[in-house]
Amino acid sequence: MPVRSPVPGQPVRTDVVPVTSQARFDGAVALVTGAASGIGTAIATRLAAEGASVCIADRDLPGASRVAAAICAAGGKAVAEPVDVADRRAVEACLDRVKAGLGPVDVLVNNAAVVSSTDLKNLTEEEWDRDLAVCLKGAFLCAKAVLPDMLQRRKGVLLNIGSVNGSHFYGDDAYSAAKAGLVSLTRSLAVRYGAYGVRANLIAPGTVRTPAWDERLRRDPDLLQTLAQWYPLGRLGTVEDIAAAAAFLASDEASWITGTTLTVDGGLVAGNAVMAQHILGPFPTE
Ligand SMILES: NC(=O)c1ccc[n+]([C@@H]2O[C@H](COP(=O)([O-])OP(=O)(O)OC[C@H]3O[C@@H](n4cnc5c(N)ncnc54)[C@H](O)[C@@H]3O)[C@@H](O)[C@H]2O)c1
Repeated sequence: MPVRSPVPGQPVRTDVVPVTSQARFDGAVALVTGAASGIGTAIATRLAAEGASVCIADRDLPGASRVAAAICAAGGKAVAEPVDVADRRAVEACLDRVKAGLGPVDVLVNNAAVVSSTDLKNLTEEEWDRDLAVCLKGAFLCAKAVLPDMLQRRKGVLLNIGSVNGSHFYGDDAYSAAKAGLVSLTRSLAVRYGAYGVRANLIAPGTVRTPAWDERLRRDPDLLQTLAQWYPLGRLGTVEDIAAAAAFLASDEASWITGTTLTVDGGLVAGNAVMAQHILGPFPTE
């Protein structure tokens, strides 16, 4: 029986993308939002180290410029662009400049985020709107801005940075709702545009020490050591752990992976070892 293409008028794709392990992004253009800090910086740096021309897009332009300069100093190619991902006009203008300067975007990493940690009862409408606007609407606006070129070129990678908060409760209620929404948006993008060669995936990190933790650490300097005990692998994540996963999902090595969530969390959401040991006694080591 003939196979029907999911895109009317288009043949079923039977091509297999060749895989190379070195310089997986030679000639590619990547745009990473929120790349002036933390995980975004690490992802941009990793993609640049593997050959991509990278746009460091952030509302913090001095920070973005510093990251771009560091990448260039290390022999990579990077530019800094100011953008507020929650502002459609700013996103479109940013994408126009990137396209004119570097070319159409091959890899979009929606990483920018803000988090309001107020207790749900006291969370203001403004805080709720801000978290949803940056974490969820921002990803929609950026995807919408890059999609026309991706669809026309029949290739593209959309990578959303979610959180374990998108599937489990750890506080930060509005942020968590936005991250859960991002899982659904990822599936929509993957299913709607897969037949056009566009892949969409989400990484759900656990705790990673970045400037996002500064304020909480001022309140409790031991917080990260306390949190580490809940992680089955016995440590928190590093920005490089997340960047490695991002580079994999963005690369052709993941060419048959779309619509999925890759949880990168040292085993956190797999279960609760501390609770289990209260029930069972200490886990035997031999
Ligand atoms: N650090 C963690 O423990 C952790 C855990 C789970 C998920 N994450 C996710 O990883 C991603 C990066 O987090 P991080 O810890 O590196 O955060 P971070 O606070 O260090 O960096 C966030 C960056 O986003 C930028 N940004 C904020 N609002 C923006 C806007 N409207 N437009 C453009 N840029 C904006 C900031 O200027 C900053 O450079 C986020 O999506 C976050 O939700 C982080």
